[in-house]
Amino acid sequence: MDALEGLAREITCCTRCQLHKFRKNAVPGEGGVKLGVMIVGEAPGASEDECGRPFVGSAGRLLTEALARLGISRDDVYITNVVKCRPPNNRAPEEGEISACLVHLVRQIELLRPRRIIALGLTSSRTLLRLVGRRAERISDVRGKCFRGRVAGVSVEVCATYHPAAALRNPSLRKTLEGDLAAFLLGGLDEYLVGSDNRRHIA
Ligand code: URA
Repeated sequence: MDALEGLAREITCCTRCQLHKFRKNAVPGEGGVKLGVMIVGEAPGASEDECGRPFVGSAGRLLTEALARLGISRDDVYITNVVKCRPPNNRAPEEGEISACLVHLVRQIELLRPRRIIALGLTSSRTLLRLVGRRAERISDVRGKCFRGRVAGVSVEVCATYHPAAALRNPSLRKTLEGDLAAFLLGGLDEYLVGSDNRRHIA
Protein backbone atom coordinates (compact mmCIF):
# COMPACT_ATOMS: atom_id res chain seq x y z
CA MET A 1 0.00 0.00 0.00
CA ASP A 2 1.48 3.37 -0.94
CA ALA A 3 1.29 6.52 1.17
CA LEU A 4 -1.67 7.92 -0.76
CA GLU A 5 -3.68 4.75 -0.25
CA GLY A 6 -2.71 4.78 3.43
CA LEU A 7 -3.96 8.34 3.70
CA ALA A 8 -7.22 7.40 1.94
CA ARG A 9 -7.74 4.66 4.54
CA GLU A 10 -7.08 7.11 7.34
CA ILE A 11 -9.63 9.51 5.85
CA THR A 12 -12.15 6.70 5.54
CA CYS A 13 -12.13 6.14 9.28
CA CYS A 14 -11.43 9.74 10.36
CA THR A 15 -13.34 11.05 13.39
CA ARG A 16 -11.65 14.46 13.65
CA CYS A 17 -14.97 16.32 13.38
CA GLN A 18 -18.66 15.62 13.85
CA LEU A 19 -19.27 15.00 10.12
CA HIS A 20 -18.16 11.38 10.53
CA LYS A 21 -21.43 10.73 12.42
CA PHE A 22 -23.53 11.57 9.37
CA ARG A 23 -21.51 10.03 6.54
CA LYS A 24 -22.20 6.84 4.64
CA ASN A 25 -18.78 7.05 3.06
CA ALA A 26 -15.90 9.45 3.41
CA VAL A 27 -14.65 10.73 0.05
CA PRO A 28 -10.85 10.91 0.05
CA GLY A 29 -10.35 11.77 -3.63
CA GLU A 30 -9.25 10.03 -6.81
CA GLY A 31 -7.28 10.40 -10.01
CA GLY A 32 -3.66 11.11 -10.76
CA VAL A 33 -1.23 13.96 -11.32
CA LYS A 34 -0.20 13.24 -14.90
CA LEU A 35 -0.86 16.91 -15.60
CA GLY A 36 0.47 18.05 -12.21
CA VAL A 37 -2.97 19.36 -11.30
CA MET A 38 -5.31 18.88 -8.35
CA ILE A 39 -8.93 20.01 -8.53
CA VAL A 40 -10.48 20.80 -5.16
CA GLY A 41 -14.18 21.26 -4.46
CA GLU A 42 -16.01 22.09 -1.25
CA ALA A 43 -17.45 18.90 0.22
CA PRO A 44 -19.17 15.71 -0.96
CA GLY A 45 -22.88 15.81 -1.72
CA ALA A 46 -25.43 13.00 -1.52
CA SER A 47 -24.20 11.08 -4.59
CA GLU A 48 -20.58 11.30 -3.48
CA ASP A 49 -21.50 10.20 0.06
CA GLU A 50 -23.36 7.24 -1.43
CA CYS A 51 -20.37 5.89 -3.35
CA GLY A 52 -17.28 7.43 -1.75
CA ARG A 53 -16.13 9.17 -4.94
CA PRO A 54 -15.81 12.92 -5.58
CA PHE A 55 -17.86 14.86 -8.11
CA VAL A 56 -20.12 12.08 -9.37
CA GLY A 57 -23.47 13.91 -9.03
CA SER A 58 -24.87 16.62 -11.30
CA ALA A 59 -22.08 19.14 -10.57
CA GLY A 60 -19.62 16.32 -11.16
CA ARG A 61 -21.15 15.56 -14.53
CA LEU A 62 -20.67 19.18 -15.57
CA LEU A 63 -17.04 19.06 -14.41
CA THR A 64 -16.36 15.72 -16.12
CA GLU A 65 -17.88 16.97 -19.39
CA ALA A 66 -15.90 20.22 -19.23
CA LEU A 67 -12.69 18.22 -18.75
CA ALA A 68 -13.61 15.87 -21.61
CA ARG A 69 -14.13 18.83 -23.95
CA LEU A 70 -10.51 19.77 -23.20
CA GLY A 71 -9.41 16.21 -23.99
CA ILE A 72 -8.72 15.54 -20.32
CA SER A 73 -9.95 12.48 -18.49
CA ARG A 74 -10.75 12.44 -14.78
CA ASP A 75 -7.80 10.08 -14.29
CA ASP A 76 -5.39 12.77 -15.51
CA VAL A 77 -6.13 15.06 -12.55
CA TYR A 78 -6.51 14.40 -8.84
CA ILE A 79 -10.03 15.39 -7.77
CA THR A 80 -10.85 15.95 -4.12
CA ASN A 81 -12.61 18.29 -1.71
CA VAL A 82 -11.65 20.56 1.18
CA VAL A 83 -13.92 18.54 3.48
CA LYS A 84 -13.97 14.79 2.95
CA CYS A 85 -17.37 13.97 4.52
CA ARG A 86 -20.80 15.21 3.50
CA PRO A 87 -22.26 17.96 5.68
CA PRO A 88 -25.89 17.09 6.57
CA ASN A 89 -28.55 18.48 4.23
CA ASN A 90 -25.79 19.77 1.96
CA ARG A 91 -25.11 22.74 4.23
CA ALA A 92 -21.79 24.51 3.80
CA PRO A 93 -18.99 23.07 5.92
CA GLU A 94 -18.32 24.99 9.13
CA GLU A 95 -14.97 26.60 9.88
CA GLY A 96 -14.22 24.01 12.60
CA GLU A 97 -14.92 21.17 10.17
CA ILE A 98 -12.72 22.76 7.52
CA SER A 99 -9.82 23.22 9.92
CA ALA A 100 -10.19 19.70 11.34
CA CYS A 101 -10.11 18.23 7.82
CA LEU A 102 -7.37 20.47 6.43
CA VAL A 103 -4.63 18.14 7.63
CA HIS A 104 -5.82 15.60 5.02
CA LEU A 105 -5.76 18.06 2.11
CA VAL A 106 -2.31 19.35 3.10
CA ARG A 107 -1.00 15.79 3.30
CA GLN A 108 -2.48 15.03 -0.15
CA ILE A 109 -0.65 18.06 -1.53
CA GLU A 110 2.56 16.91 0.16
CA LEU A 111 2.26 13.43 -1.38
CA LEU A 112 1.00 14.38 -4.83
CA ARG A 113 3.19 17.50 -5.27
CA PRO A 114 0.92 19.24 -7.83
CA ARG A 115 2.24 22.32 -9.62
CA ARG A 116 -1.24 23.79 -9.84
CA ILE A 117 -4.33 23.48 -7.66
CA ILE A 118 -7.68 24.50 -9.13
CA ALA A 119 -10.01 25.69 -6.39
CA LEU A 120 -13.71 25.38 -7.27
CA GLY A 121 -15.88 27.98 -5.54
CA LEU A 122 -15.39 30.27 -2.59
CA THR A 123 -14.95 27.72 0.22
CA SER A 124 -12.18 25.95 -1.66
CA SER A 125 -10.57 29.17 -2.92
CA ARG A 126 -10.65 30.79 0.50
CA THR A 127 -9.19 27.71 2.20
CA LEU A 128 -6.42 27.12 -0.33
CA LEU A 129 -5.54 30.78 -0.65
CA ARG A 130 -5.24 31.01 3.12
CA LEU A 131 -2.62 28.27 2.90
CA VAL A 132 -0.53 30.49 0.62
CA GLY A 133 -1.09 33.57 2.76
CA ARG A 134 -3.85 35.25 0.72
CA ARG A 135 -7.36 36.29 1.62
CA ALA A 136 -10.50 35.84 -0.47
CA GLU A 137 -13.77 37.42 0.63
CA ARG A 138 -15.70 36.92 -2.58
CA ILE A 139 -15.18 34.56 -5.48
CA SER A 140 -15.28 37.54 -7.86
CA ASP A 141 -12.11 38.92 -6.20
CA VAL A 142 -10.03 35.89 -7.14
CA ARG A 143 -11.77 34.05 -9.97
CA GLY A 144 -9.64 33.59 -13.06
CA LYS A 145 -6.44 34.29 -11.14
CA CYS A 146 -3.55 32.15 -9.91
CA PHE A 147 -1.55 32.79 -6.77
CA ARG A 148 1.88 31.34 -6.09
CA GLY A 149 2.93 29.97 -2.77
CA ARG A 150 4.22 26.97 -0.86
CA VAL A 151 2.09 24.36 0.85
CA ALA A 152 3.81 21.61 2.87
CA GLY A 153 7.08 22.52 1.15
CA VAL A 154 5.53 22.20 -2.31
CA SER A 155 5.65 25.12 -4.72
CA VAL A 156 2.14 25.55 -6.09
CA GLU A 157 -0.12 27.93 -7.94
CA VAL A 158 -3.61 28.16 -6.50
CA CYS A 159 -6.04 29.04 -9.30
CA ALA A 160 -9.62 30.03 -8.48
CA THR A 161 -12.80 29.59 -10.47
CA TYR A 162 -16.52 29.06 -10.00
CA HIS A 163 -17.92 25.89 -8.48
CA PRO A 164 -19.67 23.72 -11.11
CA ALA A 165 -22.80 23.75 -8.93
CA ALA A 166 -22.92 27.54 -9.36
CA ALA A 167 -22.76 27.04 -13.13
CA LEU A 168 -25.66 24.58 -12.89
CA ARG A 169 -27.75 27.12 -10.98
CA ASN A 170 -26.67 29.97 -13.23
CA PRO A 171 -25.85 28.68 -16.75
CA SER A 172 -24.37 32.05 -17.75
CA LEU A 173 -21.33 31.17 -15.58
CA ARG A 174 -20.64 27.99 -17.50
CA LYS A 175 -18.56 29.58 -20.30
CA THR A 176 -16.41 31.40 -17.76
CA LEU A 177 -15.88 28.23 -15.73
CA GLU A 178 -14.92 26.30 -18.87
CA GLY A 179 -12.60 29.10 -20.01
CA ASP A 180 -10.88 29.13 -16.61
CA LEU A 181 -10.48 25.36 -16.64
CA ALA A 182 -8.95 25.53 -20.14
CA ALA A 183 -6.50 28.23 -19.05
CA PHE A 184 -5.58 26.51 -15.78
CA LEU A 185 -5.26 23.03 -17.27
CA LEU A 186 -3.72 23.73 -20.65
CA GLY A 187 -1.90 27.01 -20.07
CA GLY A 188 1.83 26.63 -19.58
CA LEU A 189 3.65 28.62 -16.94
CA ASP A 190 5.27 30.79 -19.66
CA GLU A 191 1.92 31.90 -20.89
CA TYR A 192 1.19 33.29 -17.45
CA LEU A 193 4.53 34.96 -16.96
CA VAL A 194 5.21 36.49 -20.35
CA GLY A 195 3.54 39.73 -21.40
CA SER A 196 1.60 42.23 -19.38
CA ASP A 197 -1.79 40.85 -20.38
CA ASN A 198 -0.94 37.45 -18.96
CA ARG A 199 0.87 38.73 -15.93
CA ARG A 200 -2.35 39.95 -14.39
CA HIS A 201 -3.43 36.33 -13.96
CA ILE A 202 -0.68 35.50 -11.56
CA ALA A 203 -0.16 37.35 -8.35
N1 URA B 1 -19.62 19.40 -4.77
C1 URA B 1 -18.36 19.41 -4.27
O1 URA B 1 -17.84 20.45 -3.86
N2 URA B 1 -17.69 18.26 -4.25
C2 URA B 1 -18.19 17.11 -4.69
O2 URA B 1 -17.49 16.09 -4.63
C3 URA B 1 -19.50 17.13 -5.21
C4 URA B 1 -20.20 18.28 -5.23
